[in-house]
Amino acid sequence: MQIKGHTFLVTGGLGGLGSDCSRMLCELGANVAVADVAPGDQGRAKLQEQFKDTKDANVDYYTLDVTDEAQAQAVVEAIIKRFGSIHGLVHCAGVALRRQWTTKLSDGVAAFRKTLDINVTGTYIMGAAVADAINARAPEERANAGSLWSTKEERGVIINFSSVAGHEPTARVVGYGPSKTAVLGLTRSFADFLAPSGIRVNSVSPGLIATPILGTHAGWYQKDLEANGGFPKAPAQPKHISMAVQQLIENEFINGEDVKITGGWRLVSTVFPGQEDPRASAPGIE
Ligand SMILES: NC(=O)c1ccc[n+]([C@@H]2O[C@H](COP(=O)([O-])OP(=O)(O)OC[C@H]3O[C@@H](n4cnc5c(N)ncnc54)[C@H](O)[C@@H]3O)[C@@H](O)[C@H]2O)c1
Repeated sequence: MQIKGHTFLVTGGLGGLGSDCSRMLCELGANVAVADVAPGDQGRAKLQEQFKDTKDANVDYYTLDVTDEAQAQAVVEAIIKRFGSIHGLVHCAGVALRRQWTTKLSDGVAAFRKTLDINVTGTYIMGAAVADAINARAPEERANAGSLWSTKEERGVIINFSSVAGHEPTARVVGYGPSKTAVLGLTRSFADFLAPSGIRVNSVSPGLIATPILGTHAGWYQKDLEANGGFPKAPAQPKHISMAVQQLIENEFINGEDVKITGGWRLVSTVFPGQEDPRASAPGIE
């Protein structure tokens, strides 16, 4: 799908990766609806700061909790009112809820529930809100065709955010990892469901990028990357993720896929003889 002139919603758009995806879309001439949990004034102030060097940015801010279906639908309606239409979703919003390491799995149930709500149900809700709005654009065509409506026109695109941890959930990511595996599953089932409507659905799986989601533990992850990374053995920059997002939006033949952007980094949980047990030095479980 061409980016220029089309309208995209970026959730988690004030975060490290969301803000860079918004910048990329704006620079390529899109209308960008940036959504995040910050209240309106705060969000708009951050957005102004983010786009102070971007000429003619066609961008607006929306307060949104992705777990709230009514809010999601209201934001999508507001975007259509503001920009005339909606063509895509870049769904960056996500959390990694970190807690101290304990040997009891039941200590993590509350965090797991919340993680699933935001990372998984939020992905379903946002994909549904945007896809339903795109589908509502051709009511006459659909009404004439009955329930088996399908089109050859490319009408929309959705990019979800999984993670290297979703491909290889290990002990340290016992909650976050499976939530990102579920994002891979949702991406494929949504791609299948939405294919007749001309809406493609793909995901990206970042490895390590220094953004606020890492909290104060960036140094620990960096060490893990140096031990278990491929090439380059360094954190990626947000632009490496937005470059992949751009390709997934523009290349109409990529559908139902996930792109890992990890530099070959593998999450390993094996303890080798003579080596420190990774649990001893891990900053916590997610
Ligand atoms: N940074 C990394 O190393 C990395 C690695 C793998 C995957 N990811 C994934 O990439 C995505 C973006 O992460 P990031 O690095 O930009 O992190 P970030 O913490 O900088 O940004 C995440 C954004 O999501 C927002 N958010 C959280 N809960 C929300 C909710 N309920 N409703 C709406 N917005 C909500 C936050 O306010 C924040 O702005 C996430 O899904 C994350 O899991 C990041």
